[in-house]
Amino acid sequence: MTSTRPASPTDAPAGQAAAATPRAAWHDGDVPTLSAPSPLIGRAAELDSLREAFTNARAGSGGVVVVGGEAGIGKTRLVAEFLAGLSRDAGDAGEAGPLVLHGQCADSGSGPLPYAALTGVLADAVDALGPEATLEAAGPAADALGVLAPGLVDVRRDVDTGRLPEVLADLACALAVARPVVVVLEDLHWSDDVTRTVVARLARSAPRTTLLVVATFRSDDVGRRHPLRTTLAELERSRLATRVDVPRLDADDATRLVAALVATTGRAPDVPGTVLAQLVERAQGVPFYAEELAEFAGDAMPDSLRDLLLLRYSSLSDAARTFCRTVAAAGQRAPHELLVAMLGVAGLDDAESAAREAVEAHVLVADADGYRFRHALMQEAVDDELLPGEARRLHAACARALEEAGRTFADVAAAADHWWRARVPDRALASAVEVVTTAEADGSTSTAVVVGERALELWDLVPEPERVVGLHHAALLRHVAVALQDAAQIDRAAGLAREAVDEWPADDPAGQARALSTLAHILGKAGDAGSDGLLDEALALLPVEDHAGRAPLLRLKARNAMMDHRDDEAVAVAGMALDAARAAGDAQNVSLALNLRAMSRLNGGDLDALAELDTSREAAGDDWRAQCHYYTNASDSRLKLGRYVEAERLAEQGATIARSLGAGWATRAMLEGNVAEAWIEVGRWPDAEAWYERSVPLIDPSDYAVYLGERWTWLTMWRGDVDRAQAIARARRATWLRFGRVEEQIRARVAGTLAELALLRDDLDDALDLISIATDRRALSPFYRLTTLAVAARVLDRARAAGRPVDVAPYRDALASCTVWPTYPTWAALFAAELGDGSWEAVASADGPAHLRPYALYRDGASLLAAGDRATARERLDAAAQAADAIGCGLVAAQARALLDGAGLARGGRGGGRAVDRALTERERQVLDLVAEGLTNGQIAERLFISRKTASVHVSAILRKLGVSSRTEAAVVARSDPS
Ligand SMILES: Nc1ncnc2c1ncn2[C@@H]1O[C@H](COP(=O)(O)OP(=O)(O)O)[C@@H](O)[C@H]1O
Ligand SMILES: [Mg+2]
Repeated sequence: MTSTRPASPTDAPAGQAAAATPRAAWHDGDVPTLSAPSPLIGRAAELDSLREAFTNARAGSGGVVVVGGEAGIGKTRLVAEFLAGLSRDAGDAGEAGPLVLHGQCADSGSGPLPYAALTGVLADAVDALGPEATLEAAGPAADALGVLAPGLVDVRRDVDTGRLPEVLADLACALAVARPVVVVLEDLHWSDDVTRTVVARLARSAPRTTLLVVATFRSDDVGRRHPLRTTLAELERSRLATRVDVPRLDADDATRLVAALVATTGRAPDVPGTVLAQLVERAQGVPFYAEELAEFAGDAMPDSLRDLLLLRYSSLSDAARTFCRTVAAAGQRAPHELLVAMLGVAGLDDAESAAREAVEAHVLVADADGYRFRHALMQEAVDDELLPGEARRLHAACARALEEAGRTFADVAAAADHWWRARVPDRALASAVEVVTTAEADGSTSTAVVVGERALELWDLVPEPERVVGLHHAALLRHVAVALQDAAQIDRAAGLAREAVDEWPADDPAGQARALSTLAHILGKAGDAGSDGLLDEALALLPVEDHAGRAPLLRLKARNAMMDHRDDEAVAVAGMALDAARAAGDAQNVSLALNLRAMSRLNGGDLDALAELDTSREAAGDDWRAQCHYYTNASDSRLKLGRYVEAERLAEQGATIARSLGAGWATRAMLEGNVAEAWIEVGRWPDAEAWYERSVPLIDPSDYAVYLGERWTWLTMWRGDVDRAQAIARARRATWLRFGRVEEQIRARVAGTLAELALLRDDLDDALDLISIATDRRALSPFYRLTTLAVAARVLDRARAAGRPVDVAPYRDALASCTVWPTYPTWAALFAAELGDGSWEAVASADGPAHLRPYALYRDGASLLAAGDRATARERLDAAAQAADAIGCGLVAAQARALLDGAGLARGGRGGGRAVDRALTERERQVLDLVAEGLTNGQIAERLFISRKTASVHVSAILRKLGVSSRTEAAVVARSDPS
């Protein structure tokens, strides 16, 4: 077996590091280990940051520290020193010290090696705890770990895409219960997507545990388009990761380092000061360069960086150099077995003295079961030195050896890479196709994308490619499209899937149907309405008795219809899906179809459907996906019915089950998202906001991500950060509206939120335009019609007050069509109050979302104030501000206080002049006076000789600064604060 265990952590570690670089146990000879490293120079501040993070973690608030810096700057050394310090401290205190799990990302030469770091982390856990305890800690979905270590898990059941990151994160957290855990992930610039996802998951879990993650990356290798950049930016923005940058050494430190290094060569006395100065200058504050240069102090200085990196290599004997090139061809490390395959047993024996020479010269390091370069920069430089014939021979040998051993996905991926570099197109194609087709089950999408695109390139270079890979071109296209979709590259995914559909051989209708449904899936994710037509085409291709083939297509079609509030169609198609799934004995789809049918009935107003929804849970059996879908919709239905506490409980329950079954993040996010939504409704706003902030950025682009993004924006607005909400809405508007065309929940929420934001900008045209959807029964089901009508009423009232002709009748009719819905009384009361037909008190005391009460109190106070009842107004506005504070509703709190303040009703009077004067500029003050006279923006513009646009900008600023939501309220403030 070829181990994928990566190199040991430390290149040239300090202190106890000698023990961490075990003697090459497999080797007969006496291979020297690394000599004592130079003393650590500087880095006190960086070490302090790491120590502080660990101290916090040990106290139960773990986190992620990202260590960035250029190649050779000392990231690995810093982390090694930090870890050595921890075990020294633990030793002094007579404690066990943290459990350190170490993972090293690796590059194959043309892309990240999948899972390299994760395999190391898992191997360290197994080393420390043994296999059984590790599996137990990983929880019921531990079999997902089989991808990393096939020997660890006996039966590898169907491993579901996307579960691995959760399982690993759960494992680390479970281990962190007993003692602090430090997960070190080195060189994330070579991470694959699964590894990046694990980092994100660990970051989300760490804050409540004793888990510290220390991740390093080469900042000079992470360009603007590098996917790591996005991950890091999101983590830092969500304050889930802190950054430690390792800078170049300053001139003093660099001089100290060079002097220390030269001293270890024993040549110090001969080296003149000018040469030392030259060395310091050439090293540019990069310790690794300093080490290389110091070795040759006084000799001719290298001309280029490449020469610098090859200095030690170039001074070796021919045989040692050849051996180094062999190691370089194997990759960033060359396990013993790979070397045997490349050189033969006899050849490796012959190379023994060459290997020793390279180790003594500090080019190579011997580790537990092979060799690697002292620093990756050297490996890269030596790899470039391979002669063409030699490269072909060595890479082909590696590929063959990996294929023979090939037990893990990573082995197969590495083999594909070596065939590519060996320039053997047919083998390269065959193994690339193997990677792409297995990646679908393993979820290693970034690898599949790179290798898949390469397979498409190779296709034309290979004679009779179909015969070589046993797959036709269209099938390859489809596989690559799926990989691209998983990697969230939706446009290119759709393009390739379309090509696959066009190319698919006519004599294979089942395959054609599959290609069509792949395209339908991809378009569905992109909010493209074309999905349904494709599903119909696919269904038409399948014989009616192909139940197994038809069930998932019908289910998807029913889902599309449900999401679009085509409830009757959804009920009918879900019924067909149910029949097909039953006939095929497909339990998952039976449950999902029952679930869809129930939800569609409910959306249409049939409240008895909840009973059918419950049958979908029974039908789910032990299928976790179907179970999670049940809990998602069970909680969703309660949210819509206004049963928020029950909704929260069901979503929590589902999230717990999802976690225990090892469901992937996409599934968990839906359940956690429902918990957050319940928190909004019951008034736990800071908690909800924290969840959105932590989680939404981690969700792949999809309709669900759009939905959550909109909810988050709504919450941001009502929390009081209106500017930020406006900015997000401006940036996302087009996407929101596009997804709104295919999904009711998005179109309803988006219309309401955008209209509210428009009112806050005083943009009545936009607001009126947006709310017209509330009258469209085909567009919205009763629940969403009601929430949208409530906003519509506010818009209509404002429009009326501004003297616009508005027709309220269609909105009243729409409201009357919603009486079936249990929450109707609340929304109807709000609708009436907004239009001046009902009392705000009724709204304040109604059951409903938590923000309705402060909002209603505030509106009540505002109208009492306008009517001159200052005493009662003050009471209401005070109550409003308090109720708003209680849930974190900053918008209403600020509006209520501004009104109190402006009317001189604030308790304990703040003094310092009139509120309006304090808040507004001179110009705004003038505009406000005209607003108070009842002038329109156009009239104000004329009066003040400014453009209409400028007038409207002033009005918006005034509303914002005074914290009021309408011109009328602004006028009230102006009047109650007479100048
Ligand atoms: N502050 C330092 N003082 C002394 N030597 C250092 C220092 N930082 C790094 N080195 C040495 O420089 C070399 C490169 O450092 P390394 O940590 O491997 O860099 P990176 O991981 O950033 O590529 C190592 O041999 C290391 O021991
Ligand atoms: Mg390093």
